[in-house]
Amino acid sequence: MLSGVDTDVSPSPDSAGSCAPLVVVMGVAGSGKTTVAALLAGRLDAAFAEGDDFHSPANVAKMASGVPLDDDDRWPWLRGIRDWLAAQHAASRPAVVPCSALKRAYRDLLREAGPVLFVHLTGSADLLRERIQGRAGHFMKPDMLTSQLATLEPLGPDEPGVVLDVAARPERLAQDVVAHLAAACRSTRP
Ligand SMILES: Nc1ncnc2c1ncn2[C@@H]1O[C@H](COP(=O)(O)OP(=O)(O)OP(=O)(O)O)[C@@H](O)[C@H]1O
Ligand SMILES: [Mg+2]
Repeated sequence: MLSGVDTDVSPSPDSAGSCAPLVVVMGVAGSGKTTVAALLAGRLDAAFAEGDDFHSPANVAKMASGVPLDDDDRWPWLRGIRDWLAAQHAASRPAVVPCSALKRAYRDLLREAGPVLFVHLTGSADLLRERIQGRAGHFMKPDMLTSQLATLEPLGPDEPGVVLDVAARPERLAQDVVAHLAAACRSTRP
C-alpha cells in the first residue's frame, strides 16, 4: 500500500499495474467516493457503476427503515460489485466503482475480480461531517459516520492502494490517481 502518489512504485502486475485497471474508490460516508470516482471514470474513459446500486431491494428497504445492514446482507451486494468488475476485466475495459469497502474481508472479495487498485479517501471527522451536512438531497443519520469510522479497517501494507487526503479538490484527487495508474502501467508494460 502506498500513501500518496508520488512514491516510486513497482507494483505487481496483479495489483495496480494493469493498463486496464479496476479502481475501487473507498472510504467512509461523505469522503467523496461518488464525486471522485465519477471524475476519474471520465478521465480514464472507464466504465462506471455506483456501488450503492448493487444493493438488493431487501437491503434498500432495510436501510430505508433505519436498520443497519449486517455482513450477511453485505456479501451478496459485494459479490455483485465483484462480478461487475470481473466482467469489465474480462472485456479489457478499465472500470471505476465507488464502494465504502470498509473491511479487509470485503476488499479481499472485490480483489477476486482482477487487478484492483483501492483509492482510499480520508479526512478528518469534522470535515467529513461538514460535507455530509452540506450535501443536498441526501439523508443520513448523524451517528452513521461515527459507526463507519469505527468499522473502517485501513488498507494493509500488502493491499494495492493509494491513500489520498480529501482536503484537496476532487479534480486534483482524480488527477493524482490518473498519474499513479499511468506510472504503474508504464512500469509493467513489456
Ligand atoms: N474533495 C472534495 N472537496 C470538496 N467537496 C467535496 C470533495 N469531494 C466531495 N465533496 C462534496 O462532499 C459531499 C460528499 O461527497 P460524495 O457524495 O461524493 O461522498 P460519498 O463518499 O460518495 O458519500 P456516501 O458514502 O454517502 O455515498 C458532496 O456534496 C460533494 O460535492
Ligand atoms: Mg456516494
